[in-house]
Amino acid sequence: MHITEDIKMVDVVQHDIQLLAVIQRFEIPLGFKEDTVRQVCESNDVNVEFFLQIANSFHDKAFLDWKKFKKFPVQWIITYLKNAHRCYVDYRIPQIEKQIKSFEQQVDINEKNIKLLLDFFRKYIKEFNSHIEQEETNVFPYILELDCLIKDKSSLDLSLKGKSSINQYHEEHNSIEETLFDLKSILLKYLPPPVNNCLYNNLIFDIFRLERDLLDHAEIEENVLYPLVREMEDVLMSNKND
Ligand SMILES: [Fe+2]
Ligand SMILES: [Fe+2]
Repeated sequence: MHITEDIKMVDVVQHDIQLLAVIQRFEIPLGFKEDTVRQVCESNDVNVEFFLQIANSFHDKAFLDWKKFKKFPVQWIITYLKNAHRCYVDYRIPQIEKQIKSFEQQVDINEKNIKLLLDFFRKYIKEFNSHIEQEETNVFPYILELDCLIKDKSSLDLSLKGKSSINQYHEEHNSIEETLFDLKSILLKYLPPPVNNCLYNNLIFDIFRLERDLLDHAEIEENVLYPLVREMEDVLMSNKND
């Protein structure tokens, strides 16, 4: 389905429930009534074109083309990514940790296994938090600085400023989704089934959802944001040579 501005927002969500995550990142509240995508976006001060670009990319990878994002301020992409970070850090990750902890009360899992699982997950949280911190304290501010320089028609000398170029950040953009994949494998392969299978399955589903979400997130960073920034760097470098 190609999401367009005149489809009812409720139909969009019914069609792909995963889009609720996107809607939340635009800080659009639920309660769409019969409103179309355009009406919902307008009443929440969201640019409808940008919403459609993100929602369609999320829904269908064919839309994930960085050139299509060129017409939007880079600040919008960063705000969207930061809102996703908040959702992972404040809600999704603590929720998974809480579920693992709740298994401690179940008699038929030996404590050692749960302890191992919790240790593994806590190590993961640390890795995850430092990834996000690196983006929010270094990468995103660097990009916003480039954006200001472009607006001022200034130039940039990466070597003189002692800055990393986006290529360096890109190389360091480690895949935190892989660890989640490992965690899921441990659960599926090695842990004995607990008394309450529903809770256990729920945990695996939650990890799976988070993993998928993080892959989408990393795709926007690597396949949209970074190419845009590479182009900004090129413009600034050529300003220098003019
Ligand atoms: Fe990120
Ligand atoms: Fe990232």
